[in-house]
Amino acid sequence: MSLTIYRARPDQVSLVFSLIRELAEYEKLSHEVEATEAMIADALFSENPRLFCEIAEWNGEVAGFAVWFLNCSTFAGRFGIYLEDLFVRPQFRGNGIGKALLAHLARTCVGNGWARLQWAVLDWNEPSIAFYKSLGAVLMEEWTLCRVTGPALDALAAKA
Ligand SMILES: CC(C)(COP(=O)(O)OP(=O)(O)OC[C@H]1O[C@@H](n2cnc3c(N)ncnc32)[C@H](O)[C@@H]1OP(=O)(O)O)[C@@H](O)C(=O)NCCC(=O)NCCS
Repeated sequence: MSLTIYRARPDQVSLVFSLIRELAEYEKLSHEVEATEAMIADALFSENPRLFCEIAEWNGEVAGFAVWFLNCSTFAGRFGIYLEDLFVRPQFRGNGIGKALLAHLARTCVGNGWARLQWAVLDWNEPSIAFYKSLGAVLMEEWTLCRVTGPALDALAAKA
């Protein structure tokens, strides 16, 4: 059994886009996917990309992925990784692939002197919450995610 983790290549955009849709389906959020393959290609593979994708292959088959970008803690005075997507295809789960993807990102953080690895999880996603806790993640229950989007975003922008 062999596991390889590597940075997604430009010729893998369709694959990455499929994985994004598979994750959205799992999260019951397919209706929220407005992205197109071209948008994802641009975010990942423009001249100065600000989005990154790691692919996990299990015995040569694509098993999962992690998509991330940099955030920054002014309190820590250091950058960190914000994990946007983590997904292991159902038939490959339980082989340590999700753990290996997170360990890979943790090593990227540590290697670059970045402060932390952070992400959000849906409150009903109990299996993933248990998985994250098993890896030492702390649930930031005193923090609430805030978002301004759609008409509210336009309305706020109009106040500028
Ligand atoms: C969450 C997910 C990425 C985990 O990937 P995975 O490859 O199946 O997990 P692993 O095999 O790497 O498990 C690693 C460790 O976590 C533990 N673990 C995994 N699932 C667990 C669960 N439901 N409860 C408790 N521990 C769990 C494993 O026992 C293992 O521990 P060990 O190393 O001591 O044996 C995968 O299940 C997935 O893609 N789920 C659907 C999508 C999703 O929820 N993504 C996250 C959105 S925030």
